[in-house]
Amino acid sequence: MARLVFPPDFLWGSATAAYQVEGATREDGRGESIWDVFSRRPGRVHAGENGDIAADQYHRYPEDIELMRGLGAGAYRFSLAWPRVYPEGRGKLNPKGFDYYQRLVDALLGSGIKPVVTLYHWDLPQALEEKGGWTARDTAYAFADYASACYTALGDRVRDWITINEPWCSAYLGYGRGVHAPGHRSESMAASAAHHLNLAHGLALAAYRATGQGGSVGIALNLSTPRPATAKPEDAAAVERLVDRDSRMFTGPLFGHGYPEAYLKKEGLALPVEPGDMELIAAPMDFLGLNYYSEPAAVDDPSAPLGATHAPSGYPETGMGWPIVPQGLLRQLRWATRESGGIPLYITENGAAFEDRVQGERVHDEGRVAYLRDHLAVCSEAVHEGLPLKGYFLWSFIDNFEWAWGYSQRFGIVHCDFTTLERKPKDSYYFYRDVIAGTAE
Ligand code: FCB
Repeated sequence: MARLVFPPDFLWGSATAAYQVEGATREDGRGESIWDVFSRRPGRVHAGENGDIAADQYHRYPEDIELMRGLGAGAYRFSLAWPRVYPEGRGKLNPKGFDYYQRLVDALLGSGIKPVVTLYHWDLPQALEEKGGWTARDTAYAFADYASACYTALGDRVRDWITINEPWCSAYLGYGRGVHAPGHRSESMAASAAHHLNLAHGLALAAYRATGQGGSVGIALNLSTPRPATAKPEDAAAVERLVDRDSRMFTGPLFGHGYPEAYLKKEGLALPVEPGDMELIAAPMDFLGLNYYSEPAAVDDPSAPLGATHAPSGYPETGMGWPIVPQGLLRQLRWATRESGGIPLYITENGAAFEDRVQGERVHDEGRVAYLRDHLAVCSEAVHEGLPLKGYFLWSFIDNFEWAWGYSQRFGIVHCDFTTLERKPKDSYYFYRDVIAGTAE
């Protein structure tokens, strides 16, 4: 079997997001987010669950950092909760919100772990949603103000920033399909949210450059780059229609290629673009983050939206029902390299949900170990092929609140007992530790 070989400066990390792990949703002046409200709506989240306690990282971060230390990972990607900092989204700042993140950042740095901070991982302050949320242009400006406050409070210690996590999910799952907060169902709201999320990224990037702090800024995208289900030209065309909506609505403007006009025209969508927006959004960033879990196959289907649909695949699936396609990651890395013009790439999320078997002090998760081994082998292949892949963040450091799936899906390499909040490293934790140390096969 190929050795998992990586360059010495390859950055290793694990990842989480505020609402999924912090808990403490009513402490120290935090305001409400759209996920607090969405979780209370009957039938929206599995078993009516919510992030009120989650993995309680807000109180247990010292223990978690000890576990990260044992892993040997040089970085930790986490997100800041906007409603902790600005309980109403803008206006009056809550200094206690920053106190927590300052403690967390200091503790990480004290353990030799670099903080990589996501500014927005889906927990929009509810007060902003009441003014239109991401369909309102003003939300992008509020985000830039919030981002600036974060640079001021933490920028001397945080050198790596991710503006927005998976804007596709915020726009299309949150405003288009209604399966994520805030739960709207309108394609035109989704498209307008997409533009404002892109704009928010551009404004936050410009605000960072204006600070002169000199660190690096990027975005984390969940691109969808399906393969055609068959060799028929119709399926190849179906792929392009899906890629337009699911990837080029973001990579297009971000890398100066503009919005995918064919998609917008076909759907009769007009984006709320104002003069100067496209230049702001296309300003050069320092890296692109990719969240990769699976690769669908696309098939031409005149009865489906966009005339295309995902075809069933013969690959085995994770607990989420997502086909396991490691080679799809290599295809996506090549696609992203072309589309972005070759800027540094990071895998900002990759991992899998499976059922674990807890046996005393051990937690067995061979499915996750196999998934990670295969995807890491592809990462090593990508580096050797010369693709600009500079690091890898495993999703997730610890089991957490998996959005609409509640606690029914576990992605962690550290097991969390959601009753006692006790942590236990899984077999995949030890496997990842060995990969980082360079001793895994
Ligand atoms: C991604 C999200 C992340 C997590 C994983 C499984 O879409 O960014 O928060 O839920 O999926």
